Amino acid sequence: MSEIKIDFSNAGISEEELCAFKQKALDAAKTLTEGTGAGNDYLGWVDLPVDYDRQELEKVKKAAEKIRSESEVLVVIGIGGSYLGAKAAVDFLTRGSKKSGPQVLFAGNSFSTDSIADIIEAIGDRDFSINVISKSGTTLESAIAFRIFRELLEKKYGPGEAVKRIYATTDRNKGVLKGMSDKFGYETFTVPEDIGGRFSVLSSVGLLPLAAAGADVEEILAGAAYMRNRCLTEDFDTNLALRYAAFRQLMLERGKEIEVFCIFNPSIGSFSGWWRQLFGESEGKDGKGLFPACVTYSTDLHSIGQYIQDGKRIVFETMLYTENSNNSLVIKEEENDDDRLNYLAGKTLSYVNRCAAKGTGQAHLHGGTPNIMISYGKKNEDCLGRLFYFFEFACGVSGYMLGVNPFDQPGVEHYKKNMFELLERP
Ligand code: PA5
Repeated sequence: MSEIKIDFSNAGISEEELCAFKQKALDAAKTLTEGTGAGNDYLGWVDLPVDYDRQELEKVKKAAEKIRSESEVLVVIGIGGSYLGAKAAVDFLTRGSKKSGPQVLFAGNSFSTDSIADIIEAIGDRDFSINVISKSGTTLESAIAFRIFRELLEKKYGPGEAVKRIYATTDRNKGVLKGMSDKFGYETFTVPEDIGGRFSVLSSVGLLPLAAAGADVEEILAGAAYMRNRCLTEDFDTNLALRYAAFRQLMLERGKEIEVFCIFNPSIGSFSGWWRQLFGESEGKDGKGLFPACVTYSTDLHSIGQYIQDGKRIVFETMLYTENSNNSLVIKEEENDDDRLNYLAGKTLSYVNRCAAKGTGQAHLHGGTPNIMISYGKKNEDCLGRLFYFFEFACGVSGYMLGVNPFDQPGVEHYKKNMFELLERP
């Protein structure tokens, strides 16, 4: 049920054409798993699902229980890799589901005054706690938001009680946030030194907010461990991550410049945001890399669909789809059929969505936009763990096939340098 599959029937390629990249993909996977490539000091995520720090996991579960018992809202403060995975996961598991627990709100991911105001308004007079996440401990967006929400917490509960509602996820030894945690006594969680932000969702960075939201984090890790085993042991013919990485390289070679990640369920929109950072920050360097774009279908078929069908032929699509929904909605028959929809009576909305997905894939291939369909089972923990690991592994392999270091992000520093100069940071 949770099995991930890739359908290449609208890819416009033959098995032989894909297999032309087999050796390159196998070599890249070897470089990754043997740790011989660039950025090899950031490979902690490869074994994370089977090599998890059990003590840390128990701490996560205990803290999550405390948060659930005393808070109606958890404010997660972080940016980039320090929030996109958690947001993707929380939305994937809680939207459209009956999971109960504190509402998780994400702050500190922009300098927008309105966003902060919206979150303060959304908290209202409800009880809340904070999970501030920053590996470096110095990221300005998050640091400013932490100052604001810390003050709010202190005002509501007093400084002594506020401290007990702050959970800091940061480097084990260094950084401003680590210093503050030691000084004030916040409960702390570790961002492993050998895992970069965009590969950190299966560490405490993602697991604490998820556990607080009511997810079974062990199931997520089990799903990821299952997929890790497949990625590490299967040959190219069945190895989903290697085949996906190979397909991306083939598309690049055919002159495609943009990979559009398509979902058919707006409630998992933030998963696209996680995927975009993963591939964009890992591959977009040295003048290389596919530009990762995201759309939601069928919504965007009525906007950007025109370009994808008919515009400049530089696009291919990776569709993420499930046949299953946690809910069922059957279209009813009406006596008069005024809206002429009785031909759909008895069909589910998911069935209509499936036909839209199939029709779109065929139409886009016909228009010169090849596409693949990655399908998954239910929106549950096991499946989510598999999806995270699948994309992470494919990304590592793909980055090495491209000839870049998939684990650094030197370009991110440039705006910061200019901004700090303008802000006259001492
Ligand atoms: O993937 C990354 O490394 C980045 O997106 C970082 O996660 C992001 O810049 C936040 O950094 P930090 O966790 O140090 O605050």
